[in-house]
Amino acid sequence: MKTQNHHRMHLLFRLALVSVLVLGATRVILDNLKNNLLWPGLIKSRNHKYSVKVPIDVSLDEIIEDDCNVFEGKWVWDNTSYPLYKEESCPFLVKQTTCLKNGRPDSFYQNWRWQPNACNLPRFDGLKLMEILRDKRMMFVGDSIQRGMFESMVCLVQSSIPPDVKRSLQRISPRKVFKVEEFNVTIEYYWAPFIIESISDHATNHTVHKRMVKLDSVAKHSKEWEGADILIFESYVWWMYKPTINATYGSPDKIQEYNVTTAYRLAMETWVNWIESKTRAQKIFFATMSPTHLWSWEWKPGSDGNCFNETDPIEGSYWGTGSNLDIMGIVKDVLGQLKVKVMLLNITQLSEYRKDGHTSIFGERKGKLLSKEQRSDPKNFADCIHWCLPGVPDTWNEILYAILLQDYRSTR
Ligand SMILES: *[C@@H]1O[C@H](CO)[C@@H](O)[C@H](O)[C@H]1NC(C)=O
Ligand SMILES: *[C@@H]1O[C@H](CO)[C@@H](O)[C@H](O)[C@H]1NC(C)=O
Ligand SMILES: *[C@@H]1O[C@H](CO)[C@@H](O)[C@H](O)[C@H]1NC(C)=O
Ligand SMILES: *[C@@H]1O[C@H](CO)[C@@H](O)[C@H](O)[C@H]1NC(C)=O
Ligand SMILES: *[C@@H]1O[C@H](CO)[C@@H](O)[C@H](O)[C@H]1NC(C)=O
Ligand SMILES: *[C@@H]1O[C@H](CO)[C@@H](O)[C@H](O)[C@H]1NC(C)=O
Ligand SMILES: *[C@@H]1O[C@H](CO)[C@@H](O)[C@H](O)[C@H]1NC(C)=O
Repeated sequence: MKTQNHHRMHLLFRLALVSVLVLGATRVILDNLKNNLLWPGLIKSRNHKYSVKVPIDVSLDEIIEDDCNVFEGKWVWDNTSYPLYKEESCPFLVKQTTCLKNGRPDSFYQNWRWQPNACNLPRFDGLKLMEILRDKRMMFVGDSIQRGMFESMVCLVQSSIPPDVKRSLQRISPRKVFKVEEFNVTIEYYWAPFIIESISDHATNHTVHKRMVKLDSVAKHSKEWEGADILIFESYVWWMYKPTINATYGSPDKIQEYNVTTAYRLAMETWVNWIESKTRAQKIFFATMSPTHLWSWEWKPGSDGNCFNETDPIEGSYWGTGSNLDIMGIVKDVLGQLKVKVMLLNITQLSEYRKDGHTSIFGERKGKLLSKEQRSDPKNFADCIHWCLPGVPDTWNEILYAILLQDYRSTR
């Protein structure tokens, strides 16, 4: 009797073990089936590690022909595929960008898709991007506009990878680091509002009204950029506070006022010297100026407001005076003479149309959401520089993704 019991126990135990294994295997198969529907090309192994089938497929409709300028096109209403993620589904958004949560009454600004004239943009696929970026660091460098682009990228990725893939966001001031461990990918942001060194380089405690740039110095920042594989630079609005800016060049003690255009060119040259002599990054991007919509008479003659209460993009050609053509010319000159390839993200024109995309009174000022009194005074308090998320910066990232995908394909 005793031995039989013992025997039965043993059997039960084995059965239990078998059923656990079967269950485990079915789980993996079911997960894979589900994942293949949700995330085609995704493979989950028995040890619950994810991987993507490599080389990743780039289908014909994801290919951008050489003659297609993705920066030329128009915004089309598309409330079935957009937004690509929701405010509440992205815990990494800071409150400066969550316009709906902050009280914005309309969400139309989330439903526009950028349609290039001569081709289609591939649909953003976070898993493909993770495979492209496997074992790499991608870093966004610039001001708070660039931080918005970084956050948009984090949300795009976070919403298109399976929920059980571990991810984390760390603040290591002046950096922010988003990590997806399974792919060993980091997406980072580095605060450098002028790219070169300045007295505004502390990520949170920086002067806004007093500005002083060191036109010939970049080493303090660039040593932090050196380990990155993909770099995306941007710097514009901080330069545009006054027509002149205090700066040093050559002698660190001799502070002089410089024309902003002169100063910008010198700063770009310092940056270029670093790129040409030091960087090991595989890919470098430069994003052109993010437009502002501070004066409504520029798109609505006779009016006297700003971006406040705007709910539609501008139709037809438009270029606001906030996007300085001299600065654009300098960017063109400097990048044109480079020996190293820097890819241009010429997002200015496409964003010019989006007078509706700014945070307006549904954002922050000096780190705090606007008070009721401030909100009732949009002329003085609307923020027509920063963008709501989801929103316009998602398109910048869709284009960045499209370029990275083309590059990946061409190196296979
Ligand atoms: C999408 O937009 C169309 C056209 O404006 C509208 O009729 C429809 O109700 C919208 N659908 C949703 C889900 O918002
Ligand atoms: C993760 O990526 C970094 C480069 O970003 C690399 O140095 C490191 O070896 C990688 N780790 C693993 C475990 O592959
Ligand atoms: C901010 O920076 C200023 C000048 O460097 C310094 O005097 C002040 O103590 C700093 N404030 C904080 C909160 O760190
Ligand atoms: C440059 O610095 C001087 C001295 O602090 C100041 O008076 C002047 O207004 C500054 N110029 C600009 C353009 O900020
Ligand atoms: C500054 O720029 C303006 C306009 O471009 C020009 O007229 C002026 O001569 C410049 N000043 C200096 C000192 O370069
Ligand atoms: C916002 O715009 C709408 C339509 O253009 C107008 O009816 C409304 O009065 C405006 N609201 C404010 C507060 O200006
Ligand atoms: C960016 O595109 C605009 C037209 O949309 C063009 O005028 C400008 O020169 C381009 N910038 C650069 C740096 O090529």
